[in-house]
Amino acid sequence: MSDKKKVILSGMRPTGKLHLGHLVGALENWVSLQGEYQNYHLIADYHALTTDPVSSQIYDHSIDMLIDWLSAGLDPKISPMFRQSQIKEHAELHLIFSMLVTTSRLERNPTLKEQVRDLEMDTIVYGHLGYPVLQAADILLYKGDVVPVGEDQLPHIEITREIARRFNVLYCEAAPVFPEPEGKLTKFARLPGLDGRRMSKSIGNTILLSDGPDEIKKKMKGAVTDPQKVRKGDPGRPDICLVFSYHNKFNATETAEIRSGCESGSLGCVDCKLRCAERITNALAPHREKRAYYESHLDEVKNILHDGETKARTVAQHTMSEVHQAMHMG
Ligand code: TRP
Repeated sequence: MSDKKKVILSGMRPTGKLHLGHLVGALENWVSLQGEYQNYHLIADYHALTTDPVSSQIYDHSIDMLIDWLSAGLDPKISPMFRQSQIKEHAELHLIFSMLVTTSRLERNPTLKEQVRDLEMDTIVYGHLGYPVLQAADILLYKGDVVPVGEDQLPHIEITREIARRFNVLYCEAAPVFPEPEGKLTKFARLPGLDGRRMSKSIGNTILLSDGPDEIKKKMKGAVTDPQKVRKGDPGRPDICLVFSYHNKFNATETAEIRSGCESGSLGCVDCKLRCAERITNALAPHREKRAYYESHLDEVKNILHDGETKARTVAQHTMSEVHQAMHMG
């Protein structure tokens, strides 16, 4: 048995500053698995072009996102962080993989169908159809065993497994080149947005990891609560209240008291929200401090990225030479 660590590969599209949903749904998970696994984290800047080809903001957004990753505790000494666009092997492996999957398979992808519906698109570009093929290249270039992602990404992991299997069967007589990676969901259920809908930057219902005490208070005040609880004294239903789900996450020691106060009516929504805002503010304080540090040390951030890209490139090049050899195209 080899004692080599299993590999984690995960990434995000660079949408700029991250919000609480990213922290709870992904980043905390990445950080907690770091050390036990060999982590790689990619900034999916090419993927960002699938829904919007305008690229003028992508670099700034990538840096902003990297700052959030570092502030959340990803350690650049052990976990390379890099941009997809700077490692040419992603594009190359994507091309090879595009021969191993049918268009009808890609058209059946439920995540794509959902996006088309949510964004009300009447047509999509070729690269958007191939989104999961590029994602398979992202994962398999680093021989990712485990991919911590949200539920919406599981169909992409399934396509990755199918492509890995197909490659291994077609080209690898001796030992398989690629593992069949597994998706790993976070334990914590998804945090709803402040209006009760899915938390999303484009909807504008989020708390950013960079928000200060006043912004958090202001945003919390506007959060939707149980519509049956109109004024203090009315009994509320914590289990359907999104503010309560935030208490659950950020105020574990007081949830029993908040629940009984809400249900009996003795706790009003205004007080409940203020207490919640305070907890979130405290929970994010270390993150905000680290953000401020990196924002004033941008050269250090850029060096971290450069270093991550150098490390990732070495791994990617090694995998590509195995790929070419297996295909008799060396
Ligand atoms: N598709 C992912 C998302 O939208 C981002 C991503 C790109 C990714 N490449 C990846 C995630 C590889 C995991 C592994 O969230």
